[in-house]
Amino acid sequence: MRNDKSSKVIPFYGGQNPELFEIERRCMDREGKVIEYLDAVLPSGIVIDVGAGNGYTAEKLLRENRLIIPMEPDEKMIDSDKNFIWSRGVAQSIPFHANTFDAMYSTWAFFFDGIKDIDEGLKEVERVVKKGSPMIIVDNYGDDEFSSFSPHDISSSVSDWVKRGFTYEVIHTEFIFDSVAEAKKLLTFYFGECGERVNQTRLEYKVVAYTKTKI
Ligand SMILES: C[S@@+](CC[C@H](N)C(=O)[O-])C[C@H]1O[C@@H](n2cnc3c(N)ncnc32)[C@H](O)[C@@H]1O
Repeated sequence: MRNDKSSKVIPFYGGQNPELFEIERRCMDREGKVIEYLDAVLPSGIVIDVGAGNGYTAEKLLRENRLIIPMEPDEKMIDSDKNFIWSRGVAQSIPFHANTFDAMYSTWAFFFDGIKDIDEGLKEVERVVKKGSPMIIVDNYGDDEFSSFSPHDISSSVSDWVKRGFTYEVIHTEFIFDSVAEAKKLLTFYFGECGERVNQTRLEYKVVAYTKTKI
């Protein structure tokens, strides 16, 4: 079973706990700084969103001249009420022909540091995008108020991405919760008792976007 599709899926809580995921998605970049960044750098044409979750980001980046194809392995995450051509698949084995897409992006999905087959996923991404297309990976930068609640390091490794030929840009955004109780609920879920200390509704959050163009 090691090589089947399901063994390549990183377990994610969102499908089992959609209410908590709703808080995460609504609050983590409430002012849409990450969306703004992606919107500015993504070209027109056909774009693949790898590990698209429920299509939250894809929905916001859809434009008249930009078709987004969300690819997501977890059936429970796929929101078929959202008007997309959904694709079910994993980063390590993307179910599309070579040179199909004008860009790829992935937000907080699969390309986390520590994932052993990260290069397998990158190879697949390089295969399915056209020459000259940007590949953009969004992750935690660390060194911010949000990460300070974590008992372990949740920042991505800039040097590892630079070694792989990516450039990077830091996006300054915030978690903005409706109440301290909501902040406590999410941070306690993420960080256990360290998250219980949260006593504010706004938390500085630094995000990093790694970009490489296929040559
Ligand atoms: C933290 S969520 C992020 C979802 C979405 N990108 C967003 O920003 O809302 C991570 C997603 O990656 C998906 N995922 C897990 N394993 C994956 C894999 N091998 N390839 C692609 N996506 C994967 C999960 O099912 C989950 O939906």
